[in-house]
Amino acid sequence: MKYESQRVAWYFFATCMLLFSLQIVYGFIMGFAHAGHDVLHEWIPFHTARATHTNLLVMWLLAGFMGAAYFIVPEEADRELYWPKLAYVQWAALVIVGVTAVIGFHFGWWEGRKFLEIPRPLDYLVVVDVLAFVINIGMTIWKGRRVTTTSSVLFFGLLMAAVLYLPGMIPTDNQTMDSYWRWWVVHLWVEGVWELIMGGILSYLLIKLTGMDREIVEKWLYVIVGLTFLSGILGTGHHYYFIGTPRYWLMIGGIFSALEPLAFLGMAMYAITIARRGGRQHPNRTALAWTVGCGVISFVGAGFLGFAHTIPQVNLYTHGTLVTAMHGHMAFWGAYAMLVLAIIAYATPALTGRRLHDRPAATFAFWTSNIGMIAMTLALAVAGVTQVVLERRVGMEFLDVQREIEMHFWGLIMAAALFTLGIGAYIWNFVQHGWPKGELEGGEGQPRQEIAKQPASDDAAAVPAE
Ligand code: HEM
Ligand code: HEM
Ligand SMILES: [Fe+2]
Repeated sequence: MKYESQRVAWYFFATCMLLFSLQIVYGFIMGFAHAGHDVLHEWIPFHTARATHTNLLVMWLLAGFMGAAYFIVPEEADRELYWPKLAYVQWAALVIVGVTAVIGFHFGWWEGRKFLEIPRPLDYLVVVDVLAFVINIGMTIWKGRRVTTTSSVLFFGLLMAAVLYLPGMIPTDNQTMDSYWRWWVVHLWVEGVWELIMGGILSYLLIKLTGMDREIVEKWLYVIVGLTFLSGILGTGHHYYFIGTPRYWLMIGGIFSALEPLAFLGMAMYAITIARRGGRQHPNRTALAWTVGCGVISFVGAGFLGFAHTIPQVNLYTHGTLVTAMHGHMAFWGAYAMLVLAIIAYATPALTGRRLHDRPAATFAFWTSNIGMIAMTLALAVAGVTQVVLERRVGMEFLDVQREIEMHFWGLIMAAALFTLGIGAYIWNFVQHGWPKGELEGGEGQPRQEIAKQPASDDAAAVPAE
């Protein structure tokens, strides 16, 4: 860690750990409900649990992206954050809005639109909060000593994620129009601009962890950005098949979304190739495992399992079934959860000054959570395919089918228990690191403020822009 203001990242990361734990609790509530034991139904009905589970996920991932940006951007721009205090206020506001939203869901205060359940008044607060974040990061880059491709791609991804929140707020009472705009947010986030955030964070981690030349790592970034835009934008059409939009979307959505796995394949090859070619001297091998794992599992979960149901002829049968949940879990896990866990694994030792990254708990966390998630995906796949056959081919009633597939959810619960054990170890390791009290780099004997005020190292000053 080079700059004092990077410390704020820790508060975002700690928030991730808390919200992630809570998300898992709601996952289990739904798992048991699916298995036929909906014991909390009176207080937490399924739809409330589902909205809470998915919104907590989105919230902790966004907190993770923000923490990552506050940690990465000062180093890339070679200066302190432009408004360090604003970053803390923005963090507190995010937590307050998030907690209010989650409590509100339990009292029926919500919009009922999958993934965008947060009620409208809170949407405006989210917009203000994200604006404060984006401006702070933007000013830091703008006033920095250098502008790198990594920080530009990261910033552009974050900015566009903020902009693309707005279509979800367009007022309409037309069901088709509402679905149409909802996908601009949901799809263009995870299969568009979030991929840029992913590319930026992976690039930073790979440069730091492998010692590879920045130029080589960043060249790959251009390829990934290109592939993402080529396929992801019109790929939105794979959600327009059956919502009341014109027929041509079947063709456009089918063709372009079928190309989307290329971007994720690029991401996986990028991580593997650079990790193999670069030196592996960096002591934090756990962070490298999460980084490469993110590339690989995102390809499987998003690329491969996404492709599996993206062609209209297949989607006709699988649409809105547990096949979607199977893909949703591994895609979100591989691409975005593992990404956030990778940057936390990298940054925590630097932020706290305690290098506990090689503890057995850290390795255990990586393997156990991944094996658990693979098993969860398999359980949902079996349940999903059975549901498709019984409901859409045989023609059984929805609820009769749900009863038939109850037993697969015991498989899901067991797999999720394994996953939770792994995440428990990860959080334990995070807690063991303690508060963000680490020394600044090369700071022995010097007061922190002074180091922060010093000019950047000579080589960085000599190369103002790349
Ligand atoms: C990291 C990237 C991705 C994430 C996080 C992700 C996640 C999700 C989630 C959560 C849903 C359910 C959304 C809802 O119904 O509201 C979904 C649906 C879908 N995804 Fe992905 N996805 C990703 C990438 C992909 C890719 C690359 C493809 C295609 C190659 C794909 C194909 C689909 C399709 C076809 C659906 C609609 C399923 C249905 O009809 O019910 N996804 N995805
Ligand atoms: C560890 C315990 C977990 C359990 C038991 C669990 C279980 C479930 C269940 C039962 C559903 C509802 C499926 C339905 O609508 O019928 C669900 C939805 C979802 N979960 Fe989890 N989950 C867990 C963890 C996670 C994690 C770690 C992630 C992401 C990294 C995640 C992402 C999602 C998403 C995106 C959906 C919505 C899927 C869709 O739109 O179809 N879950 N989960
Ligand atoms: Fe999509």
